[in-house]
Amino acid sequence: MKIQKVTDETRVKAYALLQRAFPSSDYETTLVKKLHENGRPMHEWVCIHVGKVIAYIAFTNAYHGNELCGLHLAPMAVAPDFQKQGIGSELLRFALRQEAIKNQTLFVLGEPGYYQRFGFAPCTVPICPFDNNNAHFLSMRNESTVSFVVGYEPEFVPLAIPPRPKTKKRRLR
Ligand SMILES: CC(C)(COP(=O)(O)OP(=O)(O)OC[C@H]1O[C@@H](n2cnc3c(N)ncnc32)[C@H](O)[C@@H]1OP(=O)(O)O)[C@@H](O)C(=O)NCCC(=O)NCCS
Repeated sequence: MKIQKVTDETRVKAYALLQRAFPSSDYETTLVKKLHENGRPMHEWVCIHVGKVIAYIAFTNAYHGNELCGLHLAPMAVAPDFQKQGIGSELLRFALRQEAIKNQTLFVLGEPGYYQRFGFAPCTVPICPFDNNNAHFLSMRNESTVSFVVGYEPEFVPLAIPPRPKTKKRRLR
């Protein structure tokens, strides 16, 4: 398995991988395609195994108002048949050692149990606009003390949350 920067050739393979890793949603694939189309600054790597892209990781700019304040790790995916074999961990650890990443403030919206093992810690400020009370928002090398809503590239949009089913009010006896 080798890890390399995303090229024109591996981009298309990365879209296919994202679709397989997130089968019930087009969100991640569309997001990455739009970020590419719009030429947003990104740091991206893929894992290649016998000519196939089996994992993908991307970082995009994080903003405090109009100022850069770090990078968002998103999205990250491993092909379903290669998950839980340490590939995601290897790719993430590789990315965290890279020059463009290793001294940056990093943010991630994800499973705390997964990302904490790589040095991310729960984040209270800044506030993630896509989370509830920052319950799944973590950071690394984050020295923010003031509260603000961290900015993402405009291609990141809130996922449509299905309306909650209406429940009949129960009368208290
Ligand atoms: C989440 C994901 C990137 C992890 O990659 P992976 O290669 O499967 O992970 P690893 O094999 O390196 O996992 C290392 C450990 O994390 C655990 N882990 C994996 N996914 C986890 C999750 N969602 N929450 C908590 N722990 C998780 C594994 O059980 C494993 O634990 P162990 O070392 O105690 O056995 C991958 O499972 C995936 O692509 N999932 C679907 C897409 C997704 O959810 N992406 C992340 C959000 S953008």
